[in-house]
Amino acid sequence: MKTVITYGTFDILHVGHVNLLRRARALGDRLVVGLSTDEFNRGKHKSSLLNYENRKAVLESIRYVDEVFPERDWDQKAGDIMRYGADVFVMGADWSGRFDALSQYCEVVYLPRTAEISTTEIKMSLDSSS
Ligand code: CTP
Repeated sequence: MKTVITYGTFDILHVGHVNLLRRARALGDRLVVGLSTDEFNRGKHKSSLLNYENRKAVLESIRYVDEVFPERDWDQKAGDIMRYGADVFVMGADWSGRFDALSQYCEVVYLPRTAEISTTEIKMSLDSSS
């Protein structure tokens, strides 16, 4: 059983998220996702439209996602990798190089982002159309 782990806010789920989750899951047999809590997002000065419980419910309905757990701080990743027995740590290429230190615990993979879509862009287009 090969376990893959990834992290994110996954607010207003879009095709870029789905592509990332599908490719991540294809790297193993089980995908676990650390979902940023509302409090952690606030600390990053990032606000989500949907709250944690709603984002979690949407994420859990995706067929590529086996388990969702809270991401509460920057330093929990090594512990999560060991707790879940993760073999592969995945992030989108916008994070390239940022988590290379985790390669002492498991394989670290940065997947290409889907072009021309992000939660930020969706929010901006909604703002400009209202
Ligand atoms: N992601 C991706 N392709 C996109 C958007 C996101 O592969 N077009 C990936 C990110 O690289 C990350 C995961 O999806 O690994 C979760 O990203 P998140 O920050 O929640 O989504 P964004 O749409 O990038 O949100 P924001 O614009 O708020 O940063």
